[in-house]
Amino acid sequence: MLHSGVGLAIAQRLLLDRSAGKNESVQGWTVVLACRNQAKAEAARKQLLKKEPQATVDIIPLDTSSIQSVINASETIAKQYSRLDVLFCNAGAMPIKGLNIPGCIRGLLTHPVEFFGTSEALHQKVGVKSRDGLGMTFATNVAGHYFMIKILEPLMERTPGESRIIWTGSAASELEFDPSDIEHLKGDKPYESSKYIIDQVSVYLDNKYAGTKIRSFTTEPGNVCSGFVDPISNPILKVLIVVVFYLVRLISGSIRLTITAYNGSISNHYVATAPAETLDARLKYYSSISRLGEQGFVAPFPVKYDEANARIIVQYLDRIFADARNPIPDQNSNSDTRRGIGINKGTRLLFPIIPRIYGSLERHMDAWHCGGTGLQIPARISTSEASARTQQDEIFLAFTSGQDVTILTWVYAARKAVATVYGG
Ligand SMILES: NC(=O)c1ccc[n+]([C@@H]2O[C@H](COP(=O)([O-])OP(=O)(O)OC[C@H]3O[C@@H](n4cnc5c(N)ncnc54)[C@H](OP(=O)(O)O)[C@@H]3O)[C@@H](O)[C@H]2O)c1
Repeated sequence: MLHSGVGLAIAQRLLLDRSAGKNESVQGWTVVLACRNQAKAEAARKQLLKKEPQATVDIIPLDTSSIQSVINASETIAKQYSRLDVLFCNAGAMPIKGLNIPGCIRGLLTHPVEFFGTSEALHQKVGVKSRDGLGMTFATNVAGHYFMIKILEPLMERTPGESRIIWTGSAASELEFDPSDIEHLKGDKPYESSKYIIDQVSVYLDNKYAGTKIRSFTTEPGNVCSGFVDPISNPILKVLIVVVFYLVRLISGSIRLTITAYNGSISNHYVATAPAETLDARLKYYSSISRLGEQGFVAPFPVKYDEANARIIVQYLDRIFADARNPIPDQNSNSDTRRGIGINKGTRLLFPIIPRIYGSLERHMDAWHCGGTGLQIPARISTSEASARTQQDEIFLAFTSGQDVTILTWVYAARKAVATVYGG
């Protein structure tokens, strides 16, 4: 997917296979470019068709940072196509604020080669939100793809043979994660956090799909001088960065400096086309390159998977998704006839509640509020989902009505609940 950088290069590789009759599996494939910028998407389509005129290349508008756009794009795909062989979750952005000069000097002096695989040279923006009120980098790099997968699951299940989800991750994903700030709105490494989450979600999904025909994998393109650094690159600086990358690779022999998007797409192409039995979802597949750039190859490394973190993340994403799919009803109607429930680690307390009491309870509980999940409040979930959450150390105050539970406020949401906060 996508119209430039690694995304475009993946499409080029697949279409080349097709015209060369190389990969049985890709013959007859349609490439769908799901992009937010239609002019760029059209230019990419032309570029692809110029080289492979027999190919079918479609375009679907998609802004992964917008839940509505994700829903529209996914529903269009589900309606328009009878199969989905590979879904590349490749769109990604880093919210670059500017160059971090002290970071550059420190990095170059202390670890000059590894430095190029980090974002130490850059300052990232803190607290940027999407139109839906989610952390922008989290929404763009993770949530949009995750919601797309949720909607496209039935299509993937219907696909003859296997259907693969391939996330473009990053080596810069090393444990920049805070369970109390999943969207990384407070931290200054939203990009790294989003890529850590991708690793967790990818392995989690592969486990979840065990026994089905759907698989999920994660890849790493290496250090690519793509549109990714555009926000800070005037043309001269950009040329300079590329020259430095080539020089560092020549001197150090670092296999991580893939530099071109075409080299960077090796791992995505490999995971899309390799026989299933040779792939392992617990490995992250790194695009790699020889010193002189004459030979590209794929180097797998274990994913640092943390099941507990993965669960927290997936529940969090599922909640946002459920909210987006089920708009919240008017809170004022019938509120005094509903019943409030408090849930604390498996203990459900039922008690009548009226708005005035609720008001004082809410103030009381805010004092206990620990940042929670950041879920938009109020939120509506099913009673069975509410019960399931009781196993996850989440404490919240809610009204029940029929089969629904409307959560009014989070009291505590974390892996370790500390105490009974209210009630008995
Ligand atoms: N470059 C590297 O060194 C490197 C290293 C590790 C991982 N990666 C990952 O590789 C992937 C591809 O990046 P790249 O290097 O090819 O950079 P790129 O050329 O900037 O490509 C990123 C693509 O994502 C698209 N995109 C960004 N936000 C989007 C949104 N909200 N909705 C839809 N599309 C959106 C961009 O579209 P627009 O053109 O419209 O902006 C662009 O086509 C990313 O996930 C990145 O995190 C890159």
